[in-house]
Amino acid sequence: MSTTSDTFRGALEAVDRIVNRETEADEVLRKTVEVLHDRFEHYSWVGIYLVEGDDLVLGPWQGPQATDHLRIPIGHGICGTAAASGETEIVDDVNADERYLACFVSTRSEIVVPIVYEGRVVGEIDIDSDAPATFGSEDKAFLERVALLISPHCLVGWATGGEPWPETS
Ligand code: SME
Repeated sequence: MSTTSDTFRGALEAVDRIVNRETEADEVLRKTVEVLHDRFEHYSWVGIYLVEGDDLVLGPWQGPQATDHLRIPIGHGICGTAAASGETEIVDDVNADERYLACFVSTRSEIVVPIVYEGRVVGEIDIDSDAPATFGSEDKAFLERVALLISPHCLVGWATGGEPWPETS
């Protein structure tokens, strides 16, 4: 299974359908993770972190193993760096990046795409790959569009039992 522009287009359409059909925010995020994990061979582990105060809290994820990083302070690791800057991070070789918080021994490269809503980072998509230097500009453009589509669904708390997330200044 190789990744073509049809793969990206089809997956974006699938996420668009999920966003338009699902009424529960948690379901939107769960199904989006499923689409990303199922349709892209090089997306080995896919998770969505949600901002809660000064931390990122792990929401839905799919992959061969659970991560120990359930809560990451903003500013820490590759995830925390992307959340602090609001800019996508692509790391071609995680073992050469001292910011990297190791999760899985099999991981070689990583992409972290912030989810921004009304100018505020509300979460991020984190994808680990077992292949080195596998994330390119097409992945970045695609995942940034996915992040935009799901951004309104990251406002209700995954960890706060469905209450609206408090405003952070
Ligand atoms: N590697 C990430 C931590 C999250 S795990 O990949 C799921 C980081 O350096 O921030």
